[in-house]
Amino acid sequence: MSLIPDAAPIVLLNAFPLDRQQWEPLITVLGDRVRGDLITFDMPGIGEMPLTDEDPGLDLIADAAVLAMREATGADAAVWIGCSMGGYVALAVAQRWPDAVAGLGLICTKATADGDEARAKREQVALAAEGANGHPDPHAAAESMVGMEGAGRDELVEWVAANVALQRGDGIAWGQRAMAARPDRTEVLRAVDAPVVAVIGGADGIVDRADADAMAAAAGVEPVVLDGVGHLAALEAPAATADALEPLLRA
Ligand code: MLT
Repeated sequence: MSLIPDAAPIVLLNAFPLDRQQWEPLITVLGDRVRGDLITFDMPGIGEMPLTDEDPGLDLIADAAVLAMREATGADAAVWIGCSMGGYVALAVAQRWPDAVAGLGLICTKATADGDEARAKREQVALAAEGANGHPDPHAAAESMVGMEGAGRDELVEWVAANVALQRGDGIAWGQRAMAARPDRTEVLRAVDAPVVAVIGGADGIVDRADADAMAAAAGVEPVVLDGVGHLAALEAPAATADALEPLLRA
């Protein structure tokens, strides 16, 4: 039940390959700035979500997310906030369910598709994950995602590595193949008729800055750049991320 009936629900969509525990620091900081329902859920084969028999694809996640949001809240539209893979899913929602979008928060993500090299690398990771029955190297994955330096970095890297290590190898493989298959959604973003916030980690080692800037330009917004913050902005800098998202909290 919404605290305020006309407030759009907020759906938080995960960065990969972390489960929805990644949102806990942001949710704590948001506190009562969230006026309506707030929903998190895991991607197929990640966290508490069983793996599906369906072919890998982000459209399947987008469709399931919209139906789950509508069933849980009774609302038609929500604010979709996604980090990285979560942003790719948010854009799939925008394409397939435009009337379900009351706002978009795109954190450390991009609208473009993978090139051939990136797709080939994803397939290598997928095969390794299946063979290892878990992420091939959780610690290396965590190191590459966390951009912040100094106090708190080591603890956060350990937390991320431990969370990545919890995830099933076949879930990681499915997610990599789903991301590899996604199309360019720059034009979809350009057509979004709802508030958009773009957050860029100034020290993001995963998403190229040019891609992130192009995404913000397609949305017609000035990106919020968080200096010294890496790929996991909501974990590395929850207060600054919450402040950046403020325009969406009023949607
Ligand atoms: C993520 O954080 O969701 C992934 O790094 C995204 C990607 O691999 O493109």
